[in-house]
Amino acid sequence: MGKRILVTGGAGYIGSHTAVELQNAGYEVIIVDNLSNSNENVIDGIERITGVRPAFERLDCNDKEGMQAVFTKYPGIEGIIHFAASKAVGESVQKPLLYYRNNLVSLLNLLDLMPQFDVKGIVFSSSCTVYGQPDILPVDESAPIKPALSPYGNTKQICEEIINDTIHAGAPFRAILLRYFNPIGAHPSAEIGELPLGVPQNLIPYLTQTAMGIRKELSVFGNDYNTPDGSCIRDYINVVDLAKAHVIAMNRMIERKAADNVEVFNLGTGRGVSVLELINSFERATGVAVPHKIVGRREGDIEQVWANPERANNVLGWTAVESLDDTLASAWRWQEKLRERGIM
Ligand code: UD1
Repeated sequence: MGKRILVTGGAGYIGSHTAVELQNAGYEVIIVDNLSNSNENVIDGIERITGVRPAFERLDCNDKEGMQAVFTKYPGIEGIIHFAASKAVGESVQKPLLYYRNNLVSLLNLLDLMPQFDVKGIVFSSSCTVYGQPDILPVDESAPIKPALSPYGNTKQICEEIINDTIHAGAPFRAILLRYFNPIGAHPSAEIGELPLGVPQNLIPYLTQTAMGIRKELSVFGNDYNTPDGSCIRDYINVVDLAKAHVIAMNRMIERKAADNVEVFNLGTGRGVSVLELINSFERATGVAVPHKIVGRREGDIEQVWANPERANNVLGWTAVESLDDTLASAWRWQEKLRERGIM
């Protein structure tokens, strides 16, 4: 048996892809997920891809006694990848306490329990949202942290600070903070992918549901930004590429190869793509039209952000390799699979 890794939120979008890559790399994966934004079928998908069924505990990370019981049931957990969190920006504005409670308490519980169970390190899911609208693009890890525009964004900043403070106070473990840009696409097998409950807030699920005819048209939020075609620019990164970075980060941490007790890496491609370019790429990659219209700006949107991923490239030896067209095609195959299965 490989080394044991606890993956919180492992039934979710990025968590499930990471569980697959961890198992492919020989790790033993234990998933804790409360299924608040996912489904137990995802565990079946992970098993179909890898041939191994990860251990699964349906549990809220805010339940400290429950988490303690997990560490007791699975002795020798060496590392944690902490994905479990609420992530809808708009909802966080409506329900700030829910976001602060979910995202902060779950982390506090893990950091409390880690020394007790001798866990060597934690990889934390952070976001490029911590940079706000950067003054310099592409943005690197030394860019200043800007005041958060939403409670969701604020939880990511506070969680980074909590981890930094805890480790600087001498906690006996290490941490790697991974700042994701915009993860998209699905596993090439189309066995797992992004499955938002209800009306999608994020661009790609809305786009693929529109292409499928589930939604009438995609709204492009604004064409009057100071960008070449007026629509917002993001750094869209393939979710499998992103998942692989977690495996490298975990190896580095538990093999004690990290230069510092806390390290931070941007995970992006280094390529900025506008909303309108993305729609064109999807239509080119799949041959399927996406009905869309320009509407007003969405409150809280950043105009443009893309990564300088050089630190991850050079220090982790990780680079995003999948092309945008292949990634969009994978998102479409996943949407088609949902239709075949009668899910959507
Ligand atoms: C946001 C957060 C990010 C968070 C992620 C998770 C910010 C700055 N970013 O990413 O931290 O991790 O959500 O949910 O808070 N768009 C449309 N039409 C749509 C949907 C989106 O035009 O129907 C546009 C948006 O204006 C944006 C781009 O598509 O320019 C990407 O939007 P989205 O997928 O929601 O991600 P972010 O807002 O970049």
